[in-house]
Amino acid sequence: MSAETQKEQSGLAAIAYVKDGMKVGLGTGSTAAHFVKALAAKVRAGMKLTLVSTSVQTTNLAQSLGLTILDINDVGSLDLCVDGADEIGPGLALIKGGGGALLREKLIWEQAKTCIVIADAAKHVKTLGAFALPIEVEPFAYKGTINRICDVLAEFEIQKVPTLRKKDGQPFITDGANLIFDVPCGQISDPTGLASALKVTTGVVDHGLFLDLAEFALLGTDDGVKVLE
Ligand code: 5RP
Repeated sequence: MSAETQKEQSGLAAIAYVKDGMKVGLGTGSTAAHFVKALAAKVRAGMKLTLVSTSVQTTNLAQSLGLTILDINDVGSLDLCVDGADEIGPGLALIKGGGGALLREKLIWEQAKTCIVIADAAKHVKTLGAFALPIEVEPFAYKGTINRICDVLAEFEIQKVPTLRKKDGQPFITDGANLIFDVPCGQISDPTGLASALKVTTGVVDHGLFLDLAEFALLGTDDGVKVLE
């Protein structure tokens, strides 16, 4: 079974957790897109939902399917957020941000009572870090910020250089008008410590480590959808 089919399976499985009247956050990425499409079918069939989005990309998709996306500031706390991940490690520690939406994703996740991760089987890993960790950085004085990030990484025995993410040869700019630097950590042995240290680094807007946020994951596998808790 292809990864795309596994993504579709997990996105469809998440629909079972959406109930009429809920306030739902829509994630970003190819797996989340399967969920959004399935959700649009439910809304067309009469389900009433209040929806917010984690990115311009997802807002555009949702609106193209006839869904209404509200401003999170007009909605308040959410019942549910359904989103993809780049890696799912032990304890449902995640790396996110492969699609560059980590800041808005984290903001929406933190406002949701329940966060469900949807992903294909390859995303489930024993140790986080094979996928390069995205770090969102304020553009002003970013070189100094990168030096501070390198010092933090060295404290965690990660001797890797953050790489500026580019799109079409130009720096990738996030929805919040920031830069993203990707760090090929290899192995992150202390995700909690690294997350805390990056969070307090001046110039770092946020990072792709999502810890203690996911309630469970729906993993699309060749043997059907598995629940990881
Ligand atoms: C975007 C994300 C995505 O959820 C993550 O990159 C997974 O994407 P996909 O479902 O396309 O594999 O964090 O910022």
